[in-house]
Amino acid sequence: MKIFIDTASVAELNQAVALGVADGVTTNPTLLARESGSAEQIYRDLCSAIDGPVCAEAVSADAKSIIQEGKKLAQISNQIVVKIPVSKEGLLAVKQLESEGIRTNVTLVFSPMQALMAAKAGASFVCPFVGRLDDTSQPGMELIEQILAIYNNYDYETEVIVASIRNPLHVRDAALMGAHAATLPLKVVEQLMRHPLTDIGIEKFLQDWGKVAGR
Ligand code: G3P
Repeated sequence: MKIFIDTASVAELNQAVALGVADGVTTNPTLLARESGSAEQIYRDLCSAIDGPVCAEAVSADAKSIIQEGKKLAQISNQIVVKIPVSKEGLLAVKQLESEGIRTNVTLVFSPMQALMAAKAGASFVCPFVGRLDDTSQPGMELIEQILAIYNNYDYETEVIVASIRNPLHVRDAALMGAHAATLPLKVVEQLMRHPLTDIGIEKFLQDWGKVAGR
């Protein structure tokens, strides 16, 4: 499973790259707002920090403007994937940009039918948000199961990046379901490596080693 890092922070991305876990990056306007500097400079810095896709979100509303914005973003680097919120205008833009060789990631997906429409439009990636669904008492991972079943039924090549991940269980279930990718905040990457029994085990081994080393 590919792991994307859900961040606009180059410092965070560098940590994930050093661990060898980062295959790409997803950003959004909220993540950019936490950093300083222009969006363009942030995208350039992220592209330099990793050899992989960097998703940059278009914020225009109509298809023509999204296409213009997407083309401008794609000029930054061929690593840029244009992230486009799902809508009729958004999917018109997806179809056009993909036909010109610019990869797109359809985001803010909350239903299997939105994911089907994104695949029909030719999106390279789709980002269903599981955590935000959980927040409304709707099981987010059921959406992933349904999208993967539909894509498998018809051999769509659109890759599912499980997004809005809040904890290690989301990652475990995404991997068990065979999702192509998950995008994780650095905090969750760190949680994936930890287990309290490992900490207790290390502590005990160190105590016992103290008895051995003193001989
Ligand atoms: O990249 C978009 C997504 O992962 C956002 O997550 O936690 O704001 O729902 P969250």
